[in-house]
Amino acid sequence: MSKNKLFRKKSIDQILLDSQKGGSGLARVLGVRDLVSLGIAAIVGAGIFSTIGLASYNGGPAISLLFLFVAFACVFTALSYAQFASAVPVSGSAYTYAYVSFGELFAWIIGWALVLEYAVSNMVVAISWSQYFVSMLEGFGLIVPKWLTMAPAYALDAYEKMQLVGIDNLEGIERVALQAYETAPRIGGIPIIFDLPAGLITAFVTWLVYIGIKESRRASNFMVMVKIGVILAVIFGGIFFVKPENWSPFAPNGMEGVLSGVAAVFFAFIGFDSISTTAEESKNPQRDLPRAMIYCLLICAVLYVCITLVLTGMVNYSALNVKDPLAYVFSYVGFDHMAGIVSVTSVIAITSALLVFQLAQPRIWMTMSRDGLLWKKFATIHPKYKTPSFATIVTGLVVAVPALFFKMDFFVDLTSVGTFFAFIMVCGGVLYMDHAGLSSKAKFRVPYINGKYIVGIGFFVGLFLVYKYGAPLVALSNGEVGNALLHNSLIFIFWATWFVLSIMSFRFNFSLLPVIGILINLYLMSELGASNWIIFVIWLLIGLAVYFAYGYRHSKLNNSPIEDPTEAP
Ligand code: ALA
Repeated sequence: MSKNKLFRKKSIDQILLDSQKGGSGLARVLGVRDLVSLGIAAIVGAGIFSTIGLASYNGGPAISLLFLFVAFACVFTALSYAQFASAVPVSGSAYTYAYVSFGELFAWIIGWALVLEYAVSNMVVAISWSQYFVSMLEGFGLIVPKWLTMAPAYALDAYEKMQLVGIDNLEGIERVALQAYETAPRIGGIPIIFDLPAGLITAFVTWLVYIGIKESRRASNFMVMVKIGVILAVIFGGIFFVKPENWSPFAPNGMEGVLSGVAAVFFAFIGFDSISTTAEESKNPQRDLPRAMIYCLLICAVLYVCITLVLTGMVNYSALNVKDPLAYVFSYVGFDHMAGIVSVTSVIAITSALLVFQLAQPRIWMTMSRDGLLWKKFATIHPKYKTPSFATIVTGLVVAVPALFFKMDFFVDLTSVGTFFAFIMVCGGVLYMDHAGLSSKAKFRVPYINGKYIVGIGFFVGLFLVYKYGAPLVALSNGEVGNALLHNSLIFIFWATWFVLSIMSFRFNFSLLPVIGILINLYLMSELGASNWIIFVIWLLIGLAVYFAYGYRHSKLNNSPIEDPTEAP
């Protein structure tokens, strides 16, 4: 195995040439408004309509500050994505960017991690859609048999708990799950339980994406209008019910309570980057992609902070641990009509998030296949619909099947780990681009502030503050030694990375903003639970096995001389 081969890079010129030569066949129909619309469609989804509830319950009104902080973190990443998208306007997003910056092995790892961002997050979104859809139907008096509405594990857990503690000690949600267990048809004594709406919505959205980008765009534009409409209605309708005393205490569970919402809050922002995968379908990607990414991030940040303040102002934070917080707050204050409208619209809102990710995943696979890292079939373009047909169908299956049978809980965190990882690589890639003199190819550049001294000074100030006020390490005596050890190692990695970046910034005059992007993403990533990290590492190992079994040997770069983009003219 040759080290040169593992880290061989594609030059930007070669990537652009490949995408033109291959005649991607994709239709260039998207303008900046469509891109913003697709971005908002991706960002505003299950996160703001559901996971915000639990985050606010744990963190209190201060969760609005976490939204602000995470949005701030995302801006650095969005700027980096924008620079790459304007230099390498092809479908592969972070995967392609890593190919240019860090070489093939990293590109593969990123492509593999992006499956967590797109396909795995869509499992969450599909399951969440199903929950809203079922309660909406119940609102109209239509009752779906419970065994058709959930993953079997929920029902089995409820049954086991009932045997242990008795039916009277089950919570409401567990009784519903028990009902699923008891009423399910059986084959050979095994109860048949699955989440039919989650599977059906995935199939429907996959079909929409399969038949064409124009149709997807129309559907997406419509859904985004409805979505923004309802969010504004919640903000402006809810503001009249805000009682400022609900904002006190602002952070009832302190920093720990606020930070426990990192994955949920970050999940709510995931998606702004996905529009970079439509680069080959935009009319003017180099101008429009950077603009669209920043616009939609700013719009969503403002909406989220306002929504959080309104929700936590309307009811006490402790009442927000519900599945449908946006509708719930209106029933709470007795405005039932509004609650009904919000719950119907949530179904539409979540559908559009599903649509964008179903659109993005096949395009990443298509690009990887063009590079020879995945089987050729993944690059097939439908002759009539002009969409990556095979990859779209595979995406549909990959999302629909787990959504039918598995619990959503751990997918949220797993999505966040994978996405943080990709974001860090993209910010790092910009530093490489600058260093290798490739940034001149980008029509949009991350505003340059010299980080020569600031990164290092920040490091020492940060250390001093932690020494004086903070306890950065988790005590090993709380019974969860494994978790605590892993968390402490992650914190160590964070500080070590900052230290290394300080030295490199001093030597190479690194651009400050991408460095901040790396550090904030890494910090937030270290706040995620240990079990997610373990699954993430297992996921990466499987990815490496696939790469060495197929991509390493079939890479298109096997037939080209090894390129060093730093030598490109
Ligand atoms: N940001 C997307 C959502 O909240 C993933 O559904």
